Amino acid sequence: MTVPKGVSPSTVSVELSERSYDIHIEAGALDRAGDLLAPYAARGRFIVITDRNIVPNQLYRLESSLTAAAIASAVEVLPAGEATKSWTMLEKLTDALLAYGVERNDTIIALGGGVIGDLVGFAASILKRGCRFVQIPTTLLAQVDSSVGGKTAINSKAGKNLIGAFYQPVHVLIDPTTLDTLPQRELRAGYAEVVKYGLIDDPAFFAWCEDHGGKLLAGDRAARTHAITTSVQAKARIVGEDERETSGRRALLNLGHTFGHALEAETGFSDRLLHGEAVAAGMALAFRFSAMQGLCPPEDALRVTAHITAAGLPSSLRDAGISADGKTLVAHMMHDKKMEGGQLPFLLARGIGQTFLDKKVDLAKVEAFLNGERAQA
Ligand code: NAD
Ligand code: GLY
Repeated sequence: MTVPKGVSPSTVSVELSERSYDIHIEAGALDRAGDLLAPYAARGRFIVITDRNIVPNQLYRLESSLTAAAIASAVEVLPAGEATKSWTMLEKLTDALLAYGVERNDTIIALGGGVIGDLVGFAASILKRGCRFVQIPTTLLAQVDSSVGGKTAINSKAGKNLIGAFYQPVHVLIDPTTLDTLPQRELRAGYAEVVKYGLIDDPAFFAWCEDHGGKLLAGDRAARTHAITTSVQAKARIVGEDERETSGRRALLNLGHTFGHALEAETGFSDRLLHGEAVAAGMALAFRFSAMQGLCPPEDALRVTAHITAAGLPSSLRDAGISADGKTLVAHMMHDKKMEGGQLPFLLARGIGQTFLDKKVDLAKVEAFLNGERAQA
């Protein structure tokens, strides 16, 4: 793994034997994508999948760089938004790719946020029993989390991300300048996943976030690049240790997600509460619950809550617009795909940077805790 220096280009490797790949991080990389991705252009072409919001903002940069490198491209533009991670869109996309005559060694480029990355990755995993794909993530959430690690999925009537596969990209190209056109609310939601890496096992990075998070959100390029690189290094390390979430190591990445899932379910997985916003509130709840159980110093829970609030993210049920009681929220948690043999694993903390998996949490205590949180609203 190359240790990043300042904002110069850096490469982080995901070490997975024959499925290993590099993540290239560089401001302006999108304008050099033709050169950087040329080794993956079978038959001198790419098929690019993106969404409508990315067309006016970023697609032209990719197309210009491919043209400059004499690489042909076909482009399929899908609607933006979570509803695109559906059977209907998967069918539309796979039909379009087959109509383009996609072959197994063709490379499909996913240019967009987590929605495009998850859908295209899943389509690539099933087309011709597996085509190559490259991730070019354009949201902060996708740059620090979803583009790395090979989780691909669509949603079903029964819930989010229930139909999918572990399928790794052949390369990830991250250009922090693509964030310049990202709406501020989406940027903040992605920042929750940045903070998550500090809370899991890197207290020094959490302290860096406290000092530099404001600059990052305001547009500071060096801060953005540092946060992306540090996050990607952490994710690459964890995925390299536990690709399929079997040892419990990768499960640490779900910090805040069990509480967050209940909030997302309560708001109908809608724009009322973005995934990253739910994770932010979920992390604050996980730390306060840990403190209440005597596991974590209360001052650490206060620090987490204060930073999430300072970043303009929800840190409580009230902030997240939730009025449901503990029983209702725990019932939502029971539908989480992380349920194992009737038990729900929780990510709790012994302090900042000391997250651990607890598979024996008493749900009655969670319910009482959430009722207490609700009473403060
Ligand atoms: P998203 O893909 O819906 O993007 C958010 C919005 O920003 C969309 O409207 C999009 O069109 C727009 N957009 C994207 N890039 C832009 C840019 N540069 N400029 C202007 N607009 C831009 O949402 P997301 O937050 O990136 O991803 C959420 C999805 O990621 C969820 O479906 C979630 O389940 C999934 N996810 C997957 C993983 C994983 O490991 N695979 C991890 C976390 C989340
Ligand atoms: N976002 C959680 C994971 O990739 O495992």
